[in-house]
Amino acid sequence: MCGIVGVTADPDQVPNVMPMLVQGLKRLEYRGYDSAGFAFIECGSQKLLVFKNKGRIDDVVRSYGVSTYCAISGIAHTRWATHGAPNQVNAHPHLDCNKKIAIVHNGIIKNFAELREWLVEQGHRFESDTDTEVIAHLLEHFSREERDFFSAFKKALRMLEGAYAIAVLHEDEPLRIYFARNISPLLIGLGIGFNMLSSDIPSMLPYTRRFIVLNDGEYGYIEPYRVHIEKEGRSIDWRARITTITWSLEDAEKGGYPHYMLKEIMEQPRVLYETYMGLLSSREVEDAAKILADTDKIFITGAGTSYHASLVFTYYLSLLARELAIPFIASEYSTYSRLSGSDSALIVVSQSGETIDSLQALRAFKKKGAKIIAVSNVIGSTIPRESDKTIYTRAGPEIGVAATKTFLTQVLALTFLSLRLGLIRGVLTQSEYKDLVNELKRAGEAASVSIEKSSRIIERLVIGLKKSNSMYILGRELGVPLAYEGALKVKEVSYIHAEAYPAGESKHGPIALVEPGFPVIFVATPPAEHLFEKLQGNIMEMKARGASTILFGVDGYEDVKGADIVVTVGPWGEVLAPYALTPPLQLLAYRLAVALGRDPDKPRNLAKTVTVE
Ligand code: F6R
Repeated sequence: MCGIVGVTADPDQVPNVMPMLVQGLKRLEYRGYDSAGFAFIECGSQKLLVFKNKGRIDDVVRSYGVSTYCAISGIAHTRWATHGAPNQVNAHPHLDCNKKIAIVHNGIIKNFAELREWLVEQGHRFESDTDTEVIAHLLEHFSREERDFFSAFKKALRMLEGAYAIAVLHEDEPLRIYFARNISPLLIGLGIGFNMLSSDIPSMLPYTRRFIVLNDGEYGYIEPYRVHIEKEGRSIDWRARITTITWSLEDAEKGGYPHYMLKEIMEQPRVLYETYMGLLSSREVEDAAKILADTDKIFITGAGTSYHASLVFTYYLSLLARELAIPFIASEYSTYSRLSGSDSALIVVSQSGETIDSLQALRAFKKKGAKIIAVSNVIGSTIPRESDKTIYTRAGPEIGVAATKTFLTQVLALTFLSLRLGLIRGVLTQSEYKDLVNELKRAGEAASVSIEKSSRIIERLVIGLKKSNSMYILGRELGVPLAYEGALKVKEVSYIHAEAYPAGESKHGPIALVEPGFPVIFVATPPAEHLFEKLQGNIMEMKARGASTILFGVDGYEDVKGADIVVTVGPWGEVLAPYALTPPLQLLAYRLAVALGRDPDKPRNLAKTVTVE
């Protein structure tokens, strides 16, 4: 799970591609940042030069003076280590024995051990522990046998098993970059006098708005004025596949905030409104609801934050459509796919549309004949392309590694879906349905009011909480998935241990950890008339053990006893509560990270798009 970028340009149009390569790669840093590297053809000398090392892109660029070079073409890579420690030799690009062929790769070559053994027998010398290096040597090997390098490239691809997005630069063909995609994402950006490749769209947005999303099994090459794509030996006519993107570049940049995470939290009122309008004006939800209405079993899956959105859906589907959805964590799909068939539907929630665990779940269910509905933020990504129907969220590009704005847009899309099914099932009358859809229009307002009401107090809370090693976040009913999501945010960006439980469950074990000063945060959702007494009891139990208790709740919880601090975020009912109660927990996580000197945009050990199982 890495990021790759490649550019080739006519020097009369783009005299130096190095700035494009460096900037493009920097926008991919969210995909991993254990090491970075560049291979390029130097202007004038036409030689292949390679610079790579462990560490962040800026450090690698600075230490080798990469930006001071002039290049006519190049490939670059930012790595999230899978095979081999994150160090200089394992950093990409990797080279053949003659140091003329450079390759960058995202994904995993499953059969690399056999290939490596065979190549070593043939006399190839390996420098790294990576699976990727076998590709460089395979290319070298077959280029001795084949009449041209493209034939060698195709022969090498046939030997590879696993997931890959690769880009290859050969010193003898300075303006051509070879590429291939299988499972790992790769797109071509079309320019005037140049063409480029990248793992995602935002990294290419400053240079072009016209893209081709490559499909699994496609390979080919780009030159400054030429794109050639093949699949199974046949040329592909790609012109009808050009997508033009309308996101602004500003959407993909920080917009004056110190971090993407804060920018993305603050954007929620707007993107919720945009997602709402998009859902209202398209048929996506209606078509997806019809699929659900025709099936007996509804499953829903996702990883991390997307799984938490799936849990919120299960709550709403039961409330609004009186239907059961079976939620599961994507990587655990086998237990559930076994029970699926043509009578089933699976909803796959994935902001990136590329998470391998979710994709594998999708494929397992599809094989059994289940219908697939995707909820995704990325048009043209793999999960939507393999689904029967996709509901798109319209959160815009999310650069911070921690999911924030995409969570609530997923919740919004899934709530629409629950409402629609409620209408089809006759659980909701037409006028109840209309009223609820109208109420959802205020999702953005709920987020904005809540941010306004909670920001100050969160800054004060952080002063005490940043000293804690651990905390609990507890809720009941709808509050449970919101608590899970809050705890995930706190631990991933601040590195403070935060665990979420249903508040009722806390007595069945977790309370053993509670001692004087231990922080316990309660997420108090509506209806207060129904939950107040029980939550009140849970707060008292924690208080009696000396816990430091904080409550984030909708209006109606002001008079709760036993909470040291009560933050109410507005008068929101059941369908709007997630939009009001999620942002304070996101802000808390963000502020804790900043107070502790962590980088909230790039938490350690994480990557934005997880394409390894
Ligand atoms: C948490 C986070 C991850 C993702 C998960 C799924 O902040 O970002 O847990 O939610 O990796 O990613 P998608 O939604 O792209 O499938």
